[in-house]
This record gives sequence, structure tokens and C-alpha cells, in this order.
Amino acid sequence: LWKFRDVISILDYTRDELEHLFSVTDVILERSLDVGKPLDGKIVATAFIEPSTRTRLSFETAAKRLGAEVINLEPHLSSMTKGESLTDTLRMLDDYANLIVIRSPYEGSAKHAADVCEHPVINGGDGTQHHPTQAMIDLYTIRKLKGRIDGLEVGVLGDLKYGRAAASFIYGLTKFNVKRIWLISPEPLSPRPELMDRLKRMNVDFVKTENLEEAVEDLDILYVTRIQKERFPDPAEYEKLRGSYVITKKLLSRASEDLKVLHPLPRVDELSNDVDDTPYQAYFIQAKLGVPVRMALIGLVLGVF
Ligand code: CP
Repeated sequence: LWKFRDVISILDYTRDELEHLFSVTDVILERSLDVGKPLDGKIVATAFIEPSTRTRLSFETAAKRLGAEVINLEPHLSSMTKGESLTDTLRMLDDYANLIVIRSPYEGSAKHAADVCEHPVINGGDGTQHHPTQAMIDLYTIRKLKGRIDGLEVGVLGDLKYGRAAASFIYGLTKFNVKRIWLISPEPLSPRPELMDRLKRMNVDFVKTENLEEAVEDLDILYVTRIQKERFPDPAEYEKLRGSYVITKKLLSRASEDLKVLHPLPRVDELSNDVDDTPYQAYFIQAKLGVPVRMALIGLVLGVF
């Protein structure tokens, strides 16, 4: 089901397929990430034409832990600076590697890469709607910390229009039976119509609000996201909306003591450092789980698990 399949959108996966990924991740964690070198002799390429810390480095770590070699496209040092197209660049990587992980600011880049490449392609985030491996990590983190995803009350806060991690996470939640999703954003950063349509079609109980206070006492999970400065067509609009929310320890004192705060990171000023040392903090756990989840994913896609 996973072998040699391109990973483009979380929507392409069934709940059972995601549960299988999570089970493989459980085994990897039980073995403290030491599962031998099943990818000895394989090469994984990363083609990141947009900055990244966690996604690129955790994919690289995951591939190396499985025994693969990793080659990284450095866009500013590549012949893309001479005008070579992304398509030709991908063709080269496809000749050199067994698997390509792509990140791009452009909508649809991962699907395009999958069409160009014979080897499997994994979407490390493209455009404003899809970051499927982040959603897999987010769902796995919740399952690990809460023991379940079903029945939870989940708030997603921040930039729900341009934030691809938020959109993919919400799409991922629709694969499970959560109790309610709170969509908390300034009105101009409300989710796109296609996401709202999906929630309605799937009969998900959701509340759309600008007011976090309304939700905070009921939440099991608060998924905080950054306002995506780099995706605003108008910088003045960003300046108006930045700082709309700041999650602090004081604000969370009204929440359930079992609340877990997630954030795909990087954070800027929407999540105070004073939350870091509280039991609410789950975002560094989430980032750390990126390695075993991506190990499971690479292993499944390359057919060794
Ligand atoms: N969460 C995430 O995608 O982080 P990076 O942009 O650092 O990869």
C-alpha cells in the first residue's frame, strides 16, 4: 500500500494506512531508532528550494539512520542560478537517487515532481495547503501523548489560510473522529473554502471563531501556527495581523491541565518561551518525533518495512 507510492497530500491516505505508519513508528521508537541499515546502498535526495530546518534535517537524519546516503540540492549553488528549470533539476536527481524529498513555495510542485520522476517523491511542503509528513507527525504526536485522536477537542490557531501545516493537520484530523475542531484565526486568515467544504462534507463538528478565550477551557489540543509572513501578497496586511495571538503561560492557566500545545515550528512571537517549561509543551516532543515518523515513512515507501 505504501511501497513506491508518491507522498503528495495527507488526503491520499486512509485511516488504516496512517495507523500502519504509526505502528511502524512505535516499533522504531521501541528500538530507540536502531533498526539496522535496511537502506544500505540506497540514496535519498533532498530538493529544498525554500528554507527549512526540521523537515530537511529530520529527513536526512531518518535516511542516514536507515543506512541510506543523502544528497542535498543547494539551490543557491546549483545550476538553477544559471536558469536551469526545476523540472530539469528534478530529472537529474531522479537519475542519481532512489527517493526525492521536495520542498517548494509553489502550489503543486510535489505533484509535478512526481510526474517528472520515476522514483518516489515525498512532499516536504509545497505552497499553502500541503505538508503531509508534518501532519503525519502531528497526528502521531497526539496519539502518543493522549493515547487516541478520536473524541478529542482540538483547536487550530493562527494562519489557517496560508499555513500549509495547519491545513494539512486539519485535513488529517478529518480521517479520525475528533469531537470538535475549533478554527481560531483573524477573519482574513480563515481557512480556504475547499478546506471548509471538506469539513462540511465529512460532517465534522467545527466552530470558527476569532476568539481563543471562547475555546481554551474545552481544548485537549491547541495547535498553534505562525502567521506566514512570506506568503502574504501584501506586506502591509501581514503587519496588521502579526501578533493577533500570543500564547502565554498565563493565558493557558484557564485551560485543562491535560492540554497539550503543539506547533509545527518555527515560532516567531505567537508562542511565548514561558510555555516551554510547562506540562502543556508538546512542540519539542513533536519536532523530535519527526525522525522516527520519517524513518517509518521512508522505509515504507522504499519497501523495507
Ligand atoms: N515544521 C516545518 O516544516 O519546519 P521547517 O520549515 O523548519 O522544515
